[in-house]
Amino acid sequence: MTTTLAATAQTHVMDVKTTKLGAPVQSTMYGIFFEDINYAADGGLYAEMVKNRSFEFPQHLMGWRAFGKFEVKNDGPFERNPHYVRLAYAGHRDKFTGLENEGFFGIATKKGATYRFSVWARCPEGGTSTLEVSLVDNDTMGEDQRFVKANVEVSGKEWKKYTAELKANRTEPKGALRIFLGGKKAVTDVEHISLFPTDTWKGRENGMRRDLAQALCDMKPGVFRFPGGCIVEGTDLESRYQWKNSVGPVENRPLNENRWHYTFGHRFYPDYFQSYGLGFFEFFQLCEDFGCEPLPVISCGLSCQFQNPDPTKKGVHVDMDDLEDYIEDALDLIEFANGSADSEWGKVRAEMGHPEPFNLKFLGVGNEQWDYDEKHGGYGPVFTERLKKFRDEIRKEYPNIKLIGTTGPNSEGWDFDLLQPRMKELKVDLYDEHYYRNEEWFLSHGLRYDVYDRKGPRVFAGEYACHGKGKKWNHFETSLYEAAHMTGIERNADLVHMATYAPLFAHVEGWQWRPDAIWFDNLRMFKSVSYYVQQMYAMNKGTNVLPLTMAGKPVAGQEGQDGLFASSVFDKATGEVIVKVVNTSKQAQAVSINLLGIKGERKATTLTLSHSGSMDDENTLDQPEKITPKAGTASVEAGKKNAVLNDEVPAMTFRIYKVKK
Ligand code: AHR
Repeated sequence: MTTTLAATAQTHVMDVKTTKLGAPVQSTMYGIFFEDINYAADGGLYAEMVKNRSFEFPQHLMGWRAFGKFEVKNDGPFERNPHYVRLAYAGHRDKFTGLENEGFFGIATKKGATYRFSVWARCPEGGTSTLEVSLVDNDTMGEDQRFVKANVEVSGKEWKKYTAELKANRTEPKGALRIFLGGKKAVTDVEHISLFPTDTWKGRENGMRRDLAQALCDMKPGVFRFPGGCIVEGTDLESRYQWKNSVGPVENRPLNENRWHYTFGHRFYPDYFQSYGLGFFEFFQLCEDFGCEPLPVISCGLSCQFQNPDPTKKGVHVDMDDLEDYIEDALDLIEFANGSADSEWGKVRAEMGHPEPFNLKFLGVGNEQWDYDEKHGGYGPVFTERLKKFRDEIRKEYPNIKLIGTTGPNSEGWDFDLLQPRMKELKVDLYDEHYYRNEEWFLSHGLRYDVYDRKGPRVFAGEYACHGKGKKWNHFETSLYEAAHMTGIERNADLVHMATYAPLFAHVEGWQWRPDAIWFDNLRMFKSVSYYVQQMYAMNKGTNVLPLTMAGKPVAGQEGQDGLFASSVFDKATGEVIVKVVNTSKQAQAVSINLLGIKGERKATTLTLSHSGSMDDENTLDQPEKITPKAGTASVEAGKKNAVLNDEVPAMTFRIYKVKK
């Protein structure tokens, strides 16, 4: 039973043994999980502004308005993206032939910013032509729809890349890119039509949106899992993520379906495909930028088991006897990341501009896969028999690569119970757990990891988020419960070596799944409260766990603990004791934290995350900083035997204390 503070004035006494350094907190502990869901890659982090730039969508002109005299052809210069458009004289001096691209929910430009237009083009019958390129707006009352213009002169029968820089003289959230072939010009073929801001993350040509990449960097991730998620598996084998298609020149990376275009009928996006412009090279490069460990996940030869409930059906999964190509993909990936520049795949990396290895250490095999027992389909160990084959062959060639298995989509239940011991038998290094669970689950599983077997593999909490019951969107309350749960992750750092909140990104006009860590439209972004929770942990992860107890027990929202969760770490680099306290109750709680081993009074610095009036509060595009962590201080008294930090933690609040030892 809970009573108000005024009525009980009960003080919760906690003990932190500041001299008893426990398990190291791995550098990989708090990370990011990236999947191209909610337009996270194309239309999101990947800064390309043109949709269907290579005309390879199944409807080749999807995203385009073509007018005048045009034809879609398929014998273009890029073998794996053969389609292009032929533009010809419209038949009269005053008529136009051309194309207009709608972008991803519009093409948005910022006043003063510059954009790099590029196109592969030729005049197949010889001669020269002019492509009149413009950015157009939707302001039908304006004098000229074209607010930026540039001409691109095309000449000769050979395919060449042409570029032009466009400087926006206004901010336009919903513009379009228009290309005219005006007047009597030579027939002109156009292919791979692209538009990028020049101000990308690190200024790279095939770059990322600077604001979104910066937000990732600011999370201080220790590990970066990519490229998903369910897209690793594919709806069928054909649509699985194939990393080899995602490297090399962007013009020749073949398009892949994106399962999130149709997975939810109530959030249907028929124009959602994967261009692979953000591919494995770019993922590795981002890891290097952020100083975190890359963690690629590859298909284990099983396509999505949710979407294919009968795995015995022909063609759904790769037969055990045909698994070699998939294992080869895994071995080649390791070579791509770590091999010398003269190895087959290391050479591909070097040719892309990175002769030095990426120093890959971890590899995930399979995403949400599972085995079946007699009561559940009876199809047997379809996942673990495949994983075993991967394991044997990868370990033979690369014994130092740490392999990550999975316990499937559930955090408990028959499938989890079946897989967890199998991960131990298979001696994988870590296994990936997923839990999208409600408030009750998060509040009642504070001790989840305290009771795990320490002799098995380590844990990677690879996807998790609190999904409010009947409130499945970002709001303060669920983020707070994530913070509470993470005290258990931190306390058990000997076991849990990585944890990544999921999903990461969502476009406000194109999401399929929420809550998510970072939201954006084409011009703006905001960080959710869950983002800040992750960041607060990552920036205060310390180096070693310190024992923290209340009446001899871990503080995990247990009976008598009045909704308090807490954990503590020591940071060897700064000499600080860091205590995290989450008050999930509806009233303030008095805490008295005995810092055993520290003497004398001093000041603690604090970082506090609280709602701004309602537990349903959330940051939005219009109010991106409604809820952010606030810095403060607290007093540490000398105490009789040791220093004591007395504080009142407000209701529904996450607070971090840092005390110099
Ligand atoms: O994060 C969204 C999805 O949730 C992932 O693709 C999948 O792994 C999980 O089911």
